[in-house]
Amino acid sequence: MKRLVRSLVVVLVVGLVLSFAFSGVGVAANTTIVFAVGGAPSEIDYWHKVIKSFEEKNPGISVDLLRQPMNTAVRMQTLVTPLSSKESTPDVFLMDVAWVGQFAASGWLTPLNKFVTKDHYDLNVFFKKTIKLADTYKSKLIALPVYIDAGLLYYRKDLLKKYGYSHPPVTWKELVEVAQKVQAGERKHNPKFWGFVWQGKQYEGLVCDFLEFIVSNGGNILNSKGQPVLNSPNNVEALTFMRDLIHKYKISPPNTYTEMMEEPVRRTFQSGNAMFERNWPYAWGLHNSEKSPVKGEVGIAPLPHFPGHESAATLGGWHIGMNVYSKRKLAAWKFIKFVESYNTEKGFAMNLGWNPGRQDVYKDRDVIAKAPYLKALRKVFVGAVPRPGVPYYTKLSDIIQKYVNAAIAGKMSPKSALDRAQSEAKIIVSQYGGTTK
Ligand code: GLC
Repeated sequence: MKRLVRSLVVVLVVGLVLSFAFSGVGVAANTTIVFAVGGAPSEIDYWHKVIKSFEEKNPGISVDLLRQPMNTAVRMQTLVTPLSSKESTPDVFLMDVAWVGQFAASGWLTPLNKFVTKDHYDLNVFFKKTIKLADTYKSKLIALPVYIDAGLLYYRKDLLKKYGYSHPPVTWKELVEVAQKVQAGERKHNPKFWGFVWQGKQYEGLVCDFLEFIVSNGGNILNSKGQPVLNSPNNVEALTFMRDLIHKYKISPPNTYTEMMEEPVRRTFQSGNAMFERNWPYAWGLHNSEKSPVKGEVGIAPLPHFPGHESAATLGGWHIGMNVYSKRKLAAWKFIKFVESYNTEKGFAMNLGWNPGRQDVYKDRDVIAKAPYLKALRKVFVGAVPRPGVPYYTKLSDIIQKYVNAAIAGKMSPKSALDRAQSEAKIIVSQYGGTTK
């Protein structure tokens, strides 16, 4: 009997030692971490591939994908709930650049400095500016950039040529002219055809589009002192133009203000039913996918601007962070490192058209061949305009969403919508003491 017990103990000890050896130092065998991520169906499919290859290389760790939707506010909410009740999962998640600062200020993110130092992890592979502005909070590294978004103008190269144009529009006025002409011509055989599709539903994406229209007319949301300047004449003019795209020029569909989010916009363009589209880089990969009706016919350009002003692209993008209450931090860090590795980041660019968070990937020949716009439109990405980095950003965004949507739906005049937005924004800003991050 004694012998049996002794051999059992030996077997157990050997088993434990072996599983530790296989799982990598410090990570208990068969650790499972939960990773929360959302996005378009193609993006979720790709994340599954990333996870599979991580698990193959890290036999002791499994990753459960907690699927979130595409809408950024819903993604945020599905994280706020567990984090505010100090739950240990999800261990790792992606955060929109628009709210990463709010998560850091809430104390929900594990500072990554200790892991970085221990592993001699090279932060120079990332864009310095991004690390400093988006991923550092009170001198602590609290996230890493997975991909960087900027608003772009997609257009149909074949139709541009067919209607006698040699280059995509540079000003908004030109865009209207081209869109009207192409739309009139294409409608003859395709009644579903639209000149220009963009994000107008009441949600965060509308704020991104609004920012592009107003900044490309010399306007903004807050001034340099952090005070709201929502009802400036430049903003009113830009919002009037947004409304007119639907109601006066009739080149954008009426469901712009009820349904148009990234995916409905992308699908409209991809099915061959639009001349111009405003979207993020992810649409490129899908437009050029095997079964896409517009494969090979798509061009990308900076968004147009108003006369006397410059083109503006909203800065978007998603950053990876670790739950401060996670019980599996070392495994979580290993996964973060894997997501940020050269090969995974290259894979994102090659397969999803994402703009990598790592700068070294931009020099990769395969990446340049597959996503030529990354190099050609470097200026757009480098100069992208951030949304206000204030701790009350979500509240400010809600106000803008509500009133800008009411104006483009034709329920309020652009001037009165922005006057109302301005007075509500002022109250929020004064409640928070007008501080910027
Ligand atoms: C994209 C951007 C993100 C933005 C969102 C709006 O996901 O990366 O920053 O908030 O679109 O819909």
